[in-house]
Amino acid sequence: MTSHHNPVAVTGATGALGGRVARILAERGVGQRLVVRTPDRAPRLHGAEVVQAAYGDQEAARAALDGVKTLFMVSAKESAGRREEHRAFIEAAAAAGVEHIVYTSFLGAAPDAVFTHARDHDEAEHLIKDSGMSWTLLRDNFYMDVIPHFVGDDDVLRGPAGDGRCSLVSRDDVARVAATVLENPDAHAARTYDLTGPEALTMTDMAEALTRSWGRPVRFHNETIDEAYESRRAWPAEQWEYDAWVSTYTAIACGDLSPISGDVEDVTGRVPMTFAQYLGL
Ligand SMILES: NC(=O)c1ccc[n+]([C@@H]2O[C@H](COP(=O)([O-])OP(=O)(O)OC[C@H]3O[C@@H](n4cnc5c(N)ncnc54)[C@H](OP(=O)(O)O)[C@@H]3O)[C@@H](O)[C@H]2O)c1
Repeated sequence: MTSHHNPVAVTGATGALGGRVARILAERGVGQRLVVRTPDRAPRLHGAEVVQAAYGDQEAARAALDGVKTLFMVSAKESAGRREEHRAFIEAAAAAGVEHIVYTSFLGAAPDAVFTHARDHDEAEHLIKDSGMSWTLLRDNFYMDVIPHFVGDDDVLRGPAGDGRCSLVSRDDVARVAATVLENPDAHAARTYDLTGPEALTMTDMAEALTRSWGRPVRFHNETIDEAYESRRAWPAEQWEYDAWVSTYTAIACGDLSPISGDVEDVTGRVPMTFAQYLGL
């Protein structure tokens, strides 16, 4: 099926994180198989073949992972069926004979995590640990890359985060960790890495950095929880989506996302970037 023996399988290559990981592996000369839902949208990379599978399609997933020893699994797009998709894909990977799976989880994943999506990650982590495959878990904090998109048209960052802090991490740093682990998975077996930036910022700090970067005032408005639900009702969505959006901020408020970890530097040998550096300041 491939010119490369036992390629590394990379999911999510049509997306931001998986695309970065695939590009780094290609630059490092690692043979890979990009497992994507829409092959037309996969990046064209040296040493990479493209196969089609969605996580929920176990038959396609099992075929796509045939002959793969090491798998990078990006967590599925948030949806009501996400947990089932994770379960289907993890089962397919084990059935296909994958030996080591690297999964993008979330900082502090737990069944009762304040950030509701972190509860899905807890379930995926348990499925992976029970699968018989060797594993590495990358518990990413919020990507600093997404913060600018949280700013409203009125240049206000709003949410019930109080003066809580968040050790935002860049997608580039997460991708470098993932690529390093995928190149030598045995060295990272049964390890759970907390992937954070080097500092923990309040939302006021984030607004100040954006003000300097954009050259116009950006401010943080600390909503009450009721205000947060109310302001988000402007977008038609399901209740679980509103809960996830609001708990993004309440998880910051309660301190769950403030720990600073040395794991990015330990794995990559590079100090992770700050939000100011990410913004080019
Ligand atoms: N820590 C954070 O701040 C943060 C922020 C956003 C998202 N996330 C999570 O981290 C993941 C990666 O982030 P990202 O920024 O790279 O997101 P992204 O740009 O939306 O990319 C997600 C990738 O996963 C693929 N994918 C999603 N669901 C899938 C499924 N059911 N079956 C097969 N492929 C699937 C997508 O394929 P398509 O191109 O076909 O859709 C895409 O390639 C996200 O999927 C999300 O779970 C974390």
